[in-house]
Amino acid sequence: MSTTDYAPPQERERWGSRLGLILAMAGNAVGLGNFLRFPNQAVNNGQGAFMVAYFVSLLLLGIPLMWMEWGIGRRGGHFGHSTCPGMFQSLTKMRWAKYAGALGVVMPLLVVIYYVYIESWTLGYAVQSATGTINAQDSATHFNNYLGSDAHFMGVDGMTGSWVAIGFFVVTAAVNLWVLSRGLSKGIEIVAKIGMPVLVLCAIMLVARVLTSDSFEGRTAVDGLNIYWNPSQWTALFDNDQALALFGKGSAAIWLAAAGQIFFTLSVGSGAINTYASYLTRDDDIALTGLATVSTNEFCEVVLGGTLAIPAAFLYFGMSGVQEASSGSMGLAFITMPRVFDHIPLLGGDGGATSVAILGTIWFGLLFVAGITSSLALSQPAMAFFQDTLGMTRNKAAVAVGAIILLFVIPVILQPGVLDEIDYWAGTFGLVLFSTLEVVLLMWVFGSDRAWREIHFGSDIRIPRVFKWVMTWITPLMLIGMLIYWGITAAAPTLFFETDPNGHPYDADTTQGAWIGRTCMLVLAAFFVALVAVAAKRGRFKDVDDLAEDS
Ligand code: ALA
Repeated sequence: MSTTDYAPPQERERWGSRLGLILAMAGNAVGLGNFLRFPNQAVNNGQGAFMVAYFVSLLLLGIPLMWMEWGIGRRGGHFGHSTCPGMFQSLTKMRWAKYAGALGVVMPLLVVIYYVYIESWTLGYAVQSATGTINAQDSATHFNNYLGSDAHFMGVDGMTGSWVAIGFFVVTAAVNLWVLSRGLSKGIEIVAKIGMPVLVLCAIMLVARVLTSDSFEGRTAVDGLNIYWNPSQWTALFDNDQALALFGKGSAAIWLAAAGQIFFTLSVGSGAINTYASYLTRDDDIALTGLATVSTNEFCEVVLGGTLAIPAAFLYFGMSGVQEASSGSMGLAFITMPRVFDHIPLLGGDGGATSVAILGTIWFGLLFVAGITSSLALSQPAMAFFQDTLGMTRNKAAVAVGAIILLFVIPVILQPGVLDEIDYWAGTFGLVLFSTLEVVLLMWVFGSDRAWREIHFGSDIRIPRVFKWVMTWITPLMLIGMLIYWGITAAAPTLFFETDPNGHPYDADTTQGAWIGRTCMLVLAAFFVALVAVAAKRGRFKDVDDLAEDS
């Protein structure tokens, strides 16, 4: 049977333009991870050695996975499926594939629950900067007050919810859902077309201001770049003793952190890329466009994200300030940066309130834009699943997604440890697990020759052939190796509450939070698996059930 016999079952949404698609995909990838998680991970996990492992992971995991997910997504879309249950089923006759694919809906939704909450802080801080109500000098107290508690969270004190934080959360969630309810070309694409250039412009302005700042106590911002631009440290990647002596982290931990950052920043391994790619037609290029997405993300991460927070913190507070700021990824953004802005002279002034107002609005504004373009992408698989598989309208799907987010954010806000636990399983470990699953399905079960052809349909470039070999062997074997290493070193302590996802011992609060987090994840996973079963019963996967060997 030829592929053309499978007409999409209904009129599907499409991207409005290639530029819109590239910007939406770039917006999907470029997020809080680029500006907050990346500098934090680099400083804490091997600095110069981290950067070497990071680029190796980009080449052997990130770029291949990006092409594969675009391939899987576009193929699924061709058969009328916008989410991973249908996509996975189109790759194999094994009936369990659709249930495994449910992970590609539930994981991004779990991430979005806490991601939108953090995104809402950036909106709150942007408004507070603009209105001059941030206390930059005592930014730690200000952050605690904003979040409204003294509970412990991600290395900073704060969190059990204040009305201000909850108010901004509700506004942020409502904006996300409103954009989603407008659909691809009238919602997501417009936000990306406006947001991405604004984001890049804001980041370039801040980078320029940071790099041209006068030296402070004998330090310059450019010196701060040396913290992680020191490739001579690469030997630590293969010399565990050296790694421990230099960075207090073993070689394997550095590799894992670098690979983990690649997954998070590119949004691969969650199902979000697959869903965006499903709105392409089979003749649309993915080889070059996928590469353009990766390049845009890396520019925003390594060049812009890497040149902002850490060099700025180094300039004014030295290496000890950088280390203190990086002990939790949120401290850098919400506590250190307002203090940095308080020092930076602007408009002939001497730093202080004007600088905090102007630079703070730009910084938190850019974080908000980076955040929303990613949270839209992370919500879209659930949106598409409700529309596609259960036949809901777009508005009803947005209400359903909103209800889930509002329900599950409550424990995230109220109980310390829930957010970290969900982030660990759905935003870190789960990405590796899910990627392994899709690579094995595509390259080994579906077959590497067919996968290679699939990726090259309509392509504007030929991907160098060596990548076929990388995708067939290196990428899956690296992923399996990471899972085995995790199984040996981290599975038991994490599963049995010895050390929390940040490497600290669990206390009574975080243990309770971890239990609640795990319960939430299991409930949501069971819910979506059940929905896949209902949809299967209704015949929704009939078109792809027996497809694998024919197309
Ligand atoms: N890729 C998104 C980020 O970096 C999720 O924040």
